[in-house]
Amino acid sequence: MQILRDLDALRAARAARGPLALVPTMGALHEGHLSLVAAAQATGLPVITSIFVNPLQFGPNEDLSRYPRDEAGDLAKLDAAGCDLVWLPSVAAMYPEGRATSIEVAGPAEGWEGAARPGHFRGVATVCAKLFLQTGAAVAVFGEKDWQQYQVIRRMVADLDLPLRILGGETVREADGLAMSSRNRFLGPQERALAPRLHQAMQAAAAAMAAGTAPAAALAEARAGLAALGFGVDYLALVEPETLRETTARPGRLIAAARLGSVRLLDNIAAG
Ligand code: PAJ
Repeated sequence: MQILRDLDALRAARAARGPLALVPTMGALHEGHLSLVAAAQATGLPVITSIFVNPLQFGPNEDLSRYPRDEAGDLAKLDAAGCDLVWLPSVAAMYPEGRATSIEVAGPAEGWEGAARPGHFRGVATVCAKLFLQTGAAVAVFGEKDWQQYQVIRRMVADLDLPLRILGGETVREADGLAMSSRNRFLGPQERALAPRLHQAMQAAAAAMAAGTAPAAALAEARAGLAALGFGVDYLALVEPETLRETTARPGRLIAAARLGSVRLLDNIAAG
Protein backbone atom coordinates (compact mmCIF):
# COMPACT_ATOMS: atom_id res chain seq x y z
CA MET A 1 0.00 0.00 0.00
CA GLN A 2 1.38 3.35 -1.07
CA ILE A 3 1.16 6.22 1.45
CA LEU A 4 1.05 9.71 -0.08
CA ARG A 5 1.60 12.82 1.99
CA ASP A 6 2.04 15.58 -0.58
CA LEU A 7 0.48 16.61 -3.87
CA ASP A 8 3.55 15.82 -5.96
CA ALA A 9 3.57 12.23 -4.70
CA LEU A 10 -0.19 11.99 -5.33
CA ARG A 11 0.19 13.29 -8.90
CA ALA A 12 2.97 10.79 -9.63
CA ALA A 13 0.84 7.94 -8.27
CA ARG A 14 -2.14 9.07 -10.36
CA ALA A 15 -0.04 9.10 -13.49
CA ALA A 16 1.24 5.60 -12.74
CA ARG A 17 -2.09 4.01 -11.75
CA GLY A 18 -4.66 5.59 -14.06
CA PRO A 19 -8.28 6.16 -12.94
CA LEU A 20 -8.95 5.63 -9.23
CA ALA A 21 -11.88 4.92 -6.93
CA LEU A 22 -11.81 7.26 -3.91
CA VAL A 23 -13.10 6.71 -0.37
CA PRO A 24 -12.99 10.03 1.53
CA THR A 25 -12.72 9.65 5.32
CA MET A 26 -11.64 11.49 8.44
CA GLY A 27 -9.92 8.38 9.83
CA ALA A 28 -10.68 6.51 13.08
CA LEU A 29 -11.73 3.79 10.67
CA HIS A 30 -14.32 1.13 11.50
CA GLU A 31 -16.22 -1.55 9.58
CA GLY A 32 -18.46 1.09 8.01
CA HIS A 33 -15.51 2.79 6.35
CA LEU A 34 -14.01 -0.55 5.32
CA SER A 35 -17.29 -1.54 3.65
CA LEU A 36 -16.85 1.53 1.42
CA VAL A 37 -13.33 0.39 0.56
CA ALA A 38 -14.84 -2.96 -0.46
CA ALA A 39 -17.48 -1.19 -2.57
CA ALA A 40 -14.73 0.87 -4.21
CA GLN A 41 -12.74 -2.32 -4.92
CA ALA A 42 -15.82 -3.80 -6.60
CA THR A 43 -15.49 -1.15 -9.34
CA GLY A 44 -12.27 -2.87 -10.42
CA LEU A 45 -10.31 0.40 -10.16
CA PRO A 46 -7.33 0.88 -7.82
CA VAL A 47 -8.65 2.29 -4.52
CA ILE A 48 -7.41 5.43 -2.83
CA THR A 49 -8.63 6.22 0.69
CA SER A 50 -8.16 9.75 1.97
CA ILE A 51 -7.75 10.46 5.67
CA PHE A 52 -8.12 14.13 6.54
CA VAL A 53 -9.81 15.59 9.61
CA ASN A 54 -11.26 18.61 7.85
CA PRO A 55 -11.22 21.70 10.11
CA LEU A 56 -13.51 23.56 7.69
CA GLN A 57 -16.51 21.34 8.50
CA PHE A 58 -16.30 21.77 12.28
CA GLY A 59 -18.16 24.67 13.87
CA PRO A 60 -16.60 26.97 16.49
CA ASN A 61 -18.48 25.10 19.24
CA GLU A 62 -17.58 21.66 17.94
CA ASP A 63 -14.50 20.09 19.36
CA LEU A 64 -12.15 19.47 16.44
CA SER A 65 -9.40 18.57 18.90
CA ARG A 66 -11.57 15.80 20.39
CA TYR A 67 -12.01 14.09 17.03
CA PRO A 68 -10.43 10.62 17.36
CA ARG A 69 -7.18 10.10 15.46
CA ASP A 70 -5.33 6.81 14.98
CA GLU A 71 -3.14 7.00 11.90
CA ALA A 72 -1.15 3.83 12.60
CA GLY A 73 -4.30 1.81 13.31
CA ASP A 74 -6.03 3.21 10.22
CA LEU A 75 -3.10 2.37 7.94
CA ALA A 76 -2.98 -1.20 9.30
CA LYS A 77 -6.73 -1.64 8.62
CA LEU A 78 -6.48 -0.24 5.10
CA ASP A 79 -3.47 -2.40 4.31
CA ALA A 80 -5.29 -5.50 5.57
CA ALA A 81 -8.32 -4.52 3.46
CA GLY A 82 -6.18 -4.39 0.31
CA CYS A 83 -6.46 -0.64 -0.25
CA ASP A 84 -3.94 0.47 -2.89
CA LEU A 85 -3.21 4.10 -1.97
CA VAL A 86 -3.73 6.34 1.06
CA TRP A 87 -3.86 10.13 0.72
CA LEU A 88 -2.87 11.89 3.95
CA PRO A 89 -2.69 15.62 3.24
CA SER A 90 -1.69 18.10 5.92
CA VAL A 91 -3.98 20.99 6.81
CA ALA A 92 -1.39 23.38 5.34
CA ALA A 93 -1.35 21.48 2.03
CA MET A 94 -5.14 21.33 1.85
CA TYR A 95 -5.73 24.96 2.81
CA PRO A 96 -2.88 27.19 1.68
CA GLU A 97 -2.39 30.56 3.31
CA GLY A 98 -4.85 33.07 1.89
CA ARG A 99 -7.42 30.57 0.64
CA ALA A 100 -10.56 32.41 -0.40
CA THR A 101 -12.73 29.90 -2.27
CA SER A 102 -15.40 27.60 -0.96
CA ILE A 103 -18.37 25.72 -2.32
CA GLU A 104 -21.83 26.48 -1.07
CA VAL A 105 -24.56 23.95 -1.87
CA ALA A 106 -28.13 25.14 -1.26
CA GLY A 107 -31.14 22.80 -1.66
CA PRO A 108 -30.40 19.52 0.14
CA ALA A 109 -27.73 21.19 2.32
CA GLU A 110 -30.08 23.72 3.87
CA GLY A 111 -32.12 21.86 6.48
CA TRP A 112 -31.38 19.29 9.19
CA GLU A 113 -27.60 18.99 9.67
CA GLY A 114 -27.16 22.16 7.60
CA ALA A 115 -29.42 24.06 9.99
CA ALA A 116 -27.95 22.49 13.13
CA ARG A 117 -24.35 23.01 12.01
CA PRO A 118 -24.01 26.29 10.06
CA GLY A 119 -21.14 26.09 7.58
CA HIS A 120 -20.79 22.32 7.99
CA PHE A 121 -21.77 21.39 4.44
CA ARG A 122 -19.74 24.28 3.02
CA GLY A 123 -16.72 22.61 4.62
CA VAL A 124 -17.73 19.14 3.43
CA ALA A 125 -18.46 20.25 -0.15
CA THR A 126 -15.25 22.26 -0.39
CA VAL A 127 -13.00 19.48 0.86
CA CYS A 128 -14.73 16.83 -1.25
CA ALA A 129 -14.41 18.95 -4.41
CA LYS A 130 -10.72 19.37 -3.63
CA LEU A 131 -10.27 15.63 -2.95
CA PHE A 132 -12.03 14.81 -6.25
CA LEU A 133 -9.75 17.18 -8.17
CA GLN A 134 -6.57 16.21 -6.33
CA THR A 135 -7.08 12.49 -6.91
CA GLY A 136 -8.79 12.79 -10.31
CA ALA A 137 -10.99 9.95 -9.11
CA ALA A 138 -13.38 8.34 -11.61
CA VAL A 139 -15.59 7.11 -8.75
CA ALA A 140 -16.08 8.19 -5.14
CA VAL A 141 -17.93 6.16 -2.54
CA PHE A 142 -19.98 7.69 0.30
CA GLY A 143 -21.86 6.04 3.15
CA GLU A 144 -25.64 6.19 3.30
CA LYS A 145 -25.09 6.55 7.07
CA ASP A 146 -24.70 10.28 6.39
CA TRP A 147 -27.66 10.45 4.01
CA GLN A 148 -27.82 14.22 3.76
CA GLN A 149 -24.07 14.46 3.10
CA TYR A 150 -24.41 11.82 0.37
CA GLN A 151 -27.18 13.82 -1.32
CA VAL A 152 -25.30 17.12 -0.96
CA ILE A 153 -22.30 15.57 -2.72
CA ARG A 154 -24.47 14.11 -5.49
CA ARG A 155 -26.07 17.52 -6.02
CA MET A 156 -22.70 19.28 -6.13
CA VAL A 157 -21.27 16.78 -8.63
CA ALA A 158 -24.33 17.15 -10.87
CA ASP A 159 -24.38 20.95 -10.63
CA LEU A 160 -20.66 21.42 -11.31
CA ASP A 161 -20.40 18.67 -13.96
CA LEU A 162 -17.60 17.09 -11.96
CA PRO A 163 -16.34 14.15 -14.04
CA LEU A 164 -16.86 11.33 -11.56
CA ARG A 165 -19.52 8.90 -10.46
CA ILE A 166 -20.78 8.91 -6.85
CA LEU A 167 -21.70 5.55 -5.31
CA GLY A 168 -23.47 4.96 -2.00
CA GLY A 169 -22.70 2.19 0.50
CA GLU A 170 -25.28 0.83 2.93
CA THR A 171 -25.03 1.68 6.62
CA VAL A 172 -23.03 -0.87 8.59
CA ARG A 173 -24.50 -1.51 12.05
CA GLU A 174 -23.46 -3.13 15.31
CA ALA A 175 -25.24 -6.40 16.10
CA ASP A 176 -27.86 -4.50 18.13
CA GLY A 177 -28.64 -2.13 15.25
CA LEU A 178 -26.65 0.94 16.29
CA ALA A 179 -25.13 2.54 13.19
CA MET A 180 -21.34 2.40 13.44
CA SER A 181 -19.73 5.78 14.00
CA SER A 182 -16.37 6.99 15.24
CA ARG A 183 -18.32 9.03 17.82
CA ASN A 184 -19.90 5.93 19.44
CA ARG A 185 -16.75 5.50 21.54
CA PHE A 186 -17.82 8.58 23.52
CA LEU A 187 -21.03 6.89 24.73
CA GLY A 188 -20.97 5.87 28.38
CA PRO A 189 -22.12 2.30 29.21
CA GLN A 190 -25.72 3.35 29.93
CA GLU A 191 -25.86 5.54 26.83
CA ARG A 192 -24.41 2.73 24.73
CA ALA A 193 -27.13 0.41 26.01
CA LEU A 194 -29.83 2.93 25.06
CA ALA A 195 -28.35 3.98 21.71
CA PRO A 196 -29.89 1.16 19.57
CA ARG A 197 -33.34 2.36 20.63
CA LEU A 198 -33.00 5.15 18.07
CA HIS A 199 -32.85 2.71 15.17
CA GLN A 200 -35.62 0.61 16.75
CA ALA A 201 -37.89 3.64 17.07
CA MET A 202 -37.23 4.55 13.44
CA GLN A 203 -38.01 1.04 12.27
CA ALA A 204 -41.21 1.04 14.31
CA ALA A 205 -42.24 4.38 12.80
CA ALA A 206 -41.52 3.13 9.27
CA ALA A 207 -43.51 -0.03 9.95
CA ALA A 208 -46.44 1.98 11.33
CA MET A 209 -46.45 4.19 8.22
CA ALA A 210 -46.31 1.14 5.97
CA ALA A 211 -49.32 -0.22 7.87
CA GLY A 212 -51.28 2.97 7.22
CA THR A 213 -50.56 5.24 10.21
CA ALA A 214 -50.22 8.88 9.11
CA PRO A 215 -46.54 9.94 9.07
CA ALA A 216 -47.16 12.82 11.50
CA ALA A 217 -48.68 10.46 14.08
CA ALA A 218 -46.03 7.76 13.63
CA LEU A 219 -43.22 10.30 13.95
CA ALA A 220 -44.77 12.03 16.98
CA GLU A 221 -45.02 8.70 18.76
CA ALA A 222 -41.42 7.83 17.95
CA ARG A 223 -40.19 11.24 19.14
CA ALA A 224 -42.14 10.97 22.39
CA GLY A 225 -40.84 7.46 23.03
CA LEU A 226 -37.24 8.55 22.48
CA ALA A 227 -37.64 11.63 24.67
CA ALA A 228 -39.06 9.43 27.46
CA LEU A 229 -35.94 7.25 27.22
CA GLY A 230 -33.71 10.30 27.64
CA PHE A 231 -32.80 11.15 24.05
CA GLY A 232 -32.64 14.79 23.04
CA VAL A 233 -34.30 14.49 19.64
CA ASP A 234 -33.04 17.24 17.31
CA TYR A 235 -35.14 15.94 14.44
CA LEU A 236 -36.92 12.83 13.27
CA ALA A 237 -38.53 13.44 9.91
CA LEU A 238 -39.76 11.86 6.70
CA VAL A 239 -38.08 13.52 3.73
CA GLU A 240 -37.84 13.21 -0.04
CA PRO A 241 -34.70 11.10 -0.48
CA GLU A 242 -32.84 13.46 -2.86
CA THR A 243 -34.03 16.96 -1.97
CA LEU A 244 -34.30 16.31 1.78
CA ARG A 245 -37.56 18.28 1.76
CA GLU A 246 -40.02 17.19 4.42
CA THR A 247 -42.82 15.10 2.95
CA THR A 248 -45.74 12.86 3.80
CA ALA A 249 -45.29 10.83 0.61
CA ARG A 250 -43.62 7.44 0.52
CA PRO A 251 -41.22 6.05 -0.50
CA GLY A 252 -39.22 8.55 1.49
CA ARG A 253 -36.24 8.57 3.80
CA LEU A 254 -36.63 8.66 7.55
CA ILE A 255 -33.79 10.75 8.96
CA ALA A 256 -32.92 11.43 12.60
CA ALA A 257 -30.45 13.19 14.84
CA ALA A 258 -30.68 12.57 18.57
CA ARG A 259 -28.38 13.34 21.47
CA LEU A 260 -27.39 11.00 24.29
CA GLY A 261 -25.22 12.90 26.74
CA SER A 262 -22.59 14.71 24.66
CA VAL A 263 -22.91 12.38 21.68
CA ARG A 264 -25.10 13.25 18.72
CA LEU A 265 -26.30 10.12 16.92
CA LEU A 266 -27.35 10.27 13.26
CA ASP A 267 -29.33 7.58 11.52
CA ASN A 268 -31.61 7.11 8.53
CA ILE A 269 -33.58 4.32 6.91
CA ALA A 270 -35.71 3.87 3.82
CA ALA A 271 -39.42 4.35 4.49
CA GLY A 272 -41.04 2.44 1.66
P1 PAJ B 1 -16.26 10.16 8.10
O1 PAJ B 1 -17.22 10.48 9.18
O2 PAJ B 1 -14.92 9.60 8.43
O3 PAJ B 1 -16.98 9.15 7.13
C1 PAJ B 1 -16.34 8.73 5.94
C2 PAJ B 1 -17.34 7.94 5.11
O4 PAJ B 1 -17.75 6.78 5.83
C3 PAJ B 1 -18.63 8.76 4.85
O5 PAJ B 1 -19.04 8.56 3.50
C4 PAJ B 1 -19.61 8.15 5.83
O6 PAJ B 1 -20.96 8.26 5.43
C5 PAJ B 1 -19.14 6.70 5.84
N1 PAJ B 1 -19.62 5.97 7.03
C6 PAJ B 1 -19.51 6.35 8.32
N2 PAJ B 1 -20.12 5.45 9.13
C7 PAJ B 1 -20.63 4.48 8.32
C8 PAJ B 1 -21.39 3.29 8.54
N3 PAJ B 1 -21.74 2.90 9.76
N4 PAJ B 1 -21.74 2.56 7.46
C9 PAJ B 1 -21.39 2.95 6.20
N5 PAJ B 1 -20.68 4.06 5.92
C10 PAJ B 1 -20.31 4.82 6.97
O7 PAJ B 1 -18.10 11.79 6.40
C11 PAJ B 1 -16.95 12.21 6.57
O8 PAJ B 1 -15.98 11.48 7.21
C12 PAJ B 1 -16.48 13.56 6.08
O9 PAJ B 1 -17.57 14.46 6.12
C13 PAJ B 1 -15.86 13.52 4.66
C14 PAJ B 1 -16.87 13.05 3.60
C15 PAJ B 1 -14.62 12.61 4.64
C16 PAJ B 1 -15.41 14.95 4.26
O10 PAJ B 1 -14.50 15.45 5.18
